Amino acid sequence: MAQITFIQPDGSARVVDAPEGETLMIAATTAGVDGIVAECGGSCMCATCHCLVVSGPTEALPVMEDAERDTLEFTAQDMQDTSRLTCQIKATEALSGLTLRVVGR
Ligand code: FES
Repeated sequence: MAQITFIQPDGSARVVDAPEGETLMIAATTAGVDGIVAECGGSCMCATCHCLVVSGPTEALPVMEDAERDTLEFTAQDMQDTSRLTCQIKATEALSGLTLRVVGR
């Protein structure tokens, strides 16, 4: 289980318990985090699960694959150096304490 904090578009923080192996997108949508639409259902195509990494154990994040980078570059709004697609990140204990800011598309 990883405890992940999502900063929603209105600035409020939402702490979500993400079960081991579940993507952060699924954990967020299950918990009703605002701004994560996940139109493609986690297929790395829509970028509506886009978040910025704010703080926490960033070294525990998985390396970004080409597909994630391509979707961020071509589909996401306001891609930044800290951009990630939450459907491409599986929860691990080591990620507990991570804070993400929701961008959506
Ligand atoms: S849910 Fe569509 S890219 Fe993540």
